[in-house]
Amino acid sequence: MRVFVTGASGHLGSAVVPELLSAGHEVVGLARSDTSAAAIEKLGAQAHRGDLADLDVLRDQAVAADGVIHLAFRHDLMVNGDLAGAARTDLDALTALADGLAGSGKPLVGTSGTAMLVMGGIVGRPGTEHDTFPGGGYRIDAENFVADLGSRGVRSSIVRLAPTVHSSLDRYGFISTIIAAARRRGYAAYVGEGTNRWPAVHTLDAAVLYRLALEKAPAGTRLHGAADEGVPFRQIAAAIGDNLGLRVRSISPAEADEHFGFLGSFVQIDNPTSSALTRDLLGWTPTHPDLIADLHEGHYFRTA
Ligand SMILES: NC(=O)c1ccc[n+]([C@@H]2O[C@H](COP(=O)([O-])OP(=O)(O)OC[C@H]3O[C@@H](n4cnc5c(N)ncnc54)[C@H](OP(=O)(O)O)[C@@H]3O)[C@@H](O)[C@H]2O)c1
Repeated sequence: MRVFVTGASGHLGSAVVPELLSAGHEVVGLARSDTSAAAIEKLGAQAHRGDLADLDVLRDQAVAADGVIHLAFRHDLMVNGDLAGAARTDLDALTALADGLAGSGKPLVGTSGTAMLVMGGIVGRPGTEHDTFPGGGYRIDAENFVADLGSRGVRSSIVRLAPTVHSSLDRYGFISTIIAAARRRGYAAYVGEGTNRWPAVHTLDAAVLYRLALEKAPAGTRLHGAADEGVPFRQIAAAIGDNLGLRVRSISPAEADEHFGFLGSFVQIDNPTSSALTRDLLGWTPTHPDLIADLHEGHYFRTA
């Protein structure tokens, strides 16, 4: 398949592109700069110049492709608090990609996050692929848009990624931020009892999931990119403390923003996430180290 990939130069893209190429697909990646184009070409794919805001480029590339994987996201807007702007750009981009694929039966794989399960009110049990949120919300609107594209003749699916996509390819994700906080403060922290759980997935396992979704997910499928169902945050803090040689301690919710910065609230979410339906449907079997094992491989502490 000729696959158009947005975000091909990013963290997930750096694994998804080689995964597609090694399975025999041809890849064209969206590149908004010379640096991004060089990164995509270094992976062995073609780069096509354009920005997420160039909706004609997105539509035309979708028309020319046999399938699309959408990974790009305006994280720059998100971290500056412009969630609405980031979500609007995402939905506009998806609309252009869908326009290019409409009526073709070709696949479009979108990206979402398991954290939306918490925002959607799933509490005290693992969220499943059957949990949906018709009322909408941040990134949920984009997910619902993609899930409904079957009615327009697009074989659409959406991957809800764990907030912790980890590996030596990850340089700016949440784990790096938490490690940097521990270094800065001189201790690794968790909030309260630290029993709240974060799902996690290795980048290379996530890449396989995107390929499988592209190749065979039925229209309207929601998929969970979560290999660890839920790692208690206290265990994450302990692994970080071990590797940095720092003590590990509980802090109160009131201290969380000071310690973790913009992740102060997020480190407290309890987001257990099942991927049983995804595994059954696509035959997805994660094979790479889980989050705690990956932390103990040490690469985060050499580069953080
Ligand atoms: N990593 C995680 O732990 C995680 C967890 C949950 C969900 N997700 C979601 O997974 C997706 C991929 O994440 P990631 O970790 O790969 O992100 P990333 O490393 O920040 O990469 C973002 C990609 O989007 C591209 N991009 C950003 N703004 C653009 C624009 N205006 N025009 C064109 N391209 C643009 C970037 O291009 P440049 O190379 O030019 O910057 C880069 O290729 C995102 O939707 C993200 O929110 C990630």
